[in-house]
Parts: sequence; structure tokens; C-alpha cells
Amino acid sequence: MSVQFINTIDRNAVGLRAAWMVQAQLNSKPDSSIVFPTGNTPLPMYEALGRIRNLDWSRSRLFQLDEYCQPEGMDAFPPGVETFAGFLDRVLWSRVDAQKFYLKDMLDDPMQYEGLVRANRGPDLTILGIGMNGHIAFNEPGSPSDSPTRRVDLAEETLVHNFGEERLNRDRAVLPRQAVTLGLSAILASRRILLLATGSRKRGIIRKAFGQHIAPSVACPASWLKMHPYVTVLTDFSV
Ligand code: GLP
Repeated sequence: MSVQFINTIDRNAVGLRAAWMVQAQLNSKPDSSIVFPTGNTPLPMYEALGRIRNLDWSRSRLFQLDEYCQPEGMDAFPPGVETFAGFLDRVLWSRVDAQKFYLKDMLDDPMQYEGLVRANRGPDLTILGIGMNGHIAFNEPGSPSDSPTRRVDLAEETLVHNFGEERLNRDRAVLPRQAVTLGLSAILASRRILLLATGSRKRGIIRKAFGQHIAPSVACPASWLKMHPYVTVLTDFSV
């Protein structure tokens, strides 16, 4: 297993280190293809990237890791539910002159999107968070390492994490319950993977995913990362 663990003092330090890694990636390879995550964990990274001056994004290619699907018959998300494309535009993409590839525009043809991600021999860098059930992107438990980019049902635990129990019980019918996710096959085709995990509540799932005596399995999709030659796990807790 060739996973590098870096433990920093807090979530802002995780974000800063991650931003420096993105900066180094762009400086070393200006036409990098980078896959970006959503969620709370990467917010400090986006804040830190916003503070870095003179970063040349002009030849880079940016991709989404995942995107919600509209519930059947709905043509817009309910108030307060943001598309992941909207999240990425808000936290970074609208402020950089990179080439952006929006998964939300290709929800009906996930493999077309995967083809764009894999162009030029695959992503140079994929940045991930991790779900409490070990999902990466929206590859929920049960996802094999060769899983394609596809439409998936979101696990109940994921729905509770993303929308909160109260909102989910009240608005379940109009909330997204499916998504399109970059598959583990495309994620594992990345040259480099950076996984961010902050908050001591994530310690257990990180230990479960990267435990050296546990074989990778569909039960914990993040465990497939142990098969990858170049993974960095940035945490604000000791693993
Ligand atoms: C979401 C996303 C994942 C993210 C995870 C953790 O469902 N699909 O990409 O890593 O949940 O989110 P957070 O960082 O808010 O804990």
C-alpha cells in the first residue's frame, strides 16, 4: 500500500495544504486535468485557492466528481438545494479561466463524461472527500473497483448527511435521491489522488478504509484506493 498520510492541525491547515498541492500541480503541468469534490470538507481548500495570486488556470481542464439528478418530473431543485455545478462555480470555477466540463450537462450520458475525464490519459489529479459510509464521490457501498461513471441511488445515510433528517423527512419527494458519479474505474485511473478528511468523526471510516490488514472491498469503496500507487490522505486528526 503506498498511501501517504499527512496530519495537520485543523481543517484550515488541511485546506491550505490541499491548495498548495493544486498550485504545485498547475505549476508543474499547466494543462492539468483536475477533478474537484463538493461537500463541507473541501471548503477551506477553495478558500485558500481563492487567496493564491497569479495561478495560471488558462490551460487546465476542470471536472466534477459527481452531480445530483432531478427527481422524476421535477425541473428544478427545491430552494436551498444547490447543484454540485453551482457549488463549484460558487467556490472556485466562476473565478478561474480554465476549461470547465459540467457533468450536470451530461447526466443522460455518463460515459460520454467519463470519456472526457479520461481524455489525455486520464485525470492528473482527483481530489476526494469521504462519506461516513466509506463512499467516495457517490460510489456507495457495493461499488466495485471497475465501476463506471453512472447513475446511482443515494444511500439513506448519504441523504441524511447531505440534507439532514428533518429536511429529508419533510421534503423527501422533491429532494434528489439519485446522482451521477464518476466511477471508481475513472477515479483509480487518476495519476494522483488527494483525499481530504477532517473532523474526528471521520477517523473511523479512514481507519476502516486504509487499514493495512483489511483487503479492499465493495463494502467500503474508499478501500479500493489502497490499490492506487499515489494517494495522499490529508487529515486534521491522527489516523
Ligand atoms: C458527498 C459527496 C462526496 C463527499 C461526501 C462527504 O455526498 N458526494 O464527494 O466527499 O459526501 O461530504 P463532507 O465533506 O461534507 O463530509
